[in-house]
Amino acid sequence: MSIAETLKSYNSVVNEYLYGLLSGYDGDYPVITESMAYSVKNGGKRIRPFLTLKFSEFGGLQPFDKGALSFAAALEMIHTFSLIHDDLPCMDNDDLRRGKPTNHVVYGEALALLAGDALSLIAFEIIADAETDDKAKVNAVKALSELAGYKGMVGGQVMDMQGETRKLDFREFTKMNALKTGALLRSTAKLGLAAAGCYDDQKCRDADEYCACIGRAFQIRDDILDVISSEEELGKPIGSDEKNGKTTVLSYMSLDDAQKLAAQLTEQGINAVKKYGKVSDDLCELAEYLLNRRK
Ligand code: IPE
Ligand code: IPE
Ligand code: MG
Ligand code: MG
Ligand code: MG
Repeated sequence: MSIAETLKSYNSVVNEYLYGLLSGYDGDYPVITESMAYSVKNGGKRIRPFLTLKFSEFGGLQPFDKGALSFAAALEMIHTFSLIHDDLPCMDNDDLRRGKPTNHVVYGEALALLAGDALSLIAFEIIADAETDDKAKVNAVKALSELAGYKGMVGGQVMDMQGETRKLDFREFTKMNALKTGALLRSTAKLGLAAAGCYDDQKCRDADEYCACIGRAFQIRDDILDVISSEEELGKPIGSDEKNGKTTVLSYMSLDDAQKLAAQLTEQGINAVKKYGKVSDDLCELAEYLLNRRK
């Protein structure tokens, strides 16, 4: 099976699970339920849940362990919240996401804000309810709150906004990418390994190195796609970064050199885990797949 097919088969399980979870929120506020579901059900590559599940296998679990699946779903809720907020007029002011009008375009800014808030907190409810031991839950909460929050994605988004009014230096730029995108990708390993009860220091370090590297490569490729792709293929507006005067990888180098840098990081990430043999095969293939993705 190619990695694209493997991803697809995992996605069908992840999607069914996510939809099941959402059905638990159809109570008193149908309008926010609809707004949340609109963004969660709106496609997406589901890279983060896939990685979480793959890291649970890397840590010794069977595929689709229930606890790991919960952690994977929690992470996708956080990711979806980050996208809804990222698109808001006060942030990137984009009107297309995953090929559809962005959440605030359909539901208005207030509900988009609140749907994001709700999803970010539902993630922790899902972790609390997961079928894992308490140690795994505590580790998952700690990792996700840190890596999604002030010290992670949120911090990176603050730097991203600062990068609109002045060009960051390259060190700051690297940190911004590591935080705004790399941090959530790093949480996939922390959550997957926690679900597996795997606290083997070396394995955890190698998994973290893989994630940090592919996280940086992922945002570089995202910056490249913002220039070379088409709205139809990408499902997002082209030229959003230029419109906003963002500091991106292309503020420092050519498209070719940016792709080379992403390739180097990808290789570094693969090298961190390939020594583990078969259990890391899909991680290695995914890294290559993401490097050349078209959307
Ligand atoms: C988009 O992430 C935001 C970034 C961190 C670059 P994805 O490219 O994973 O978005 P979806 O979930 O597939 O739509
Ligand atoms: C996204 O970076 C980082 C997030 C934390 C959501 P971008 O702003 O480049 O992501 P896209 O291109 O809108 O998906
Ligand atoms: Mg942004
Ligand atoms: Mg954006
Ligand atoms: Mg982008």
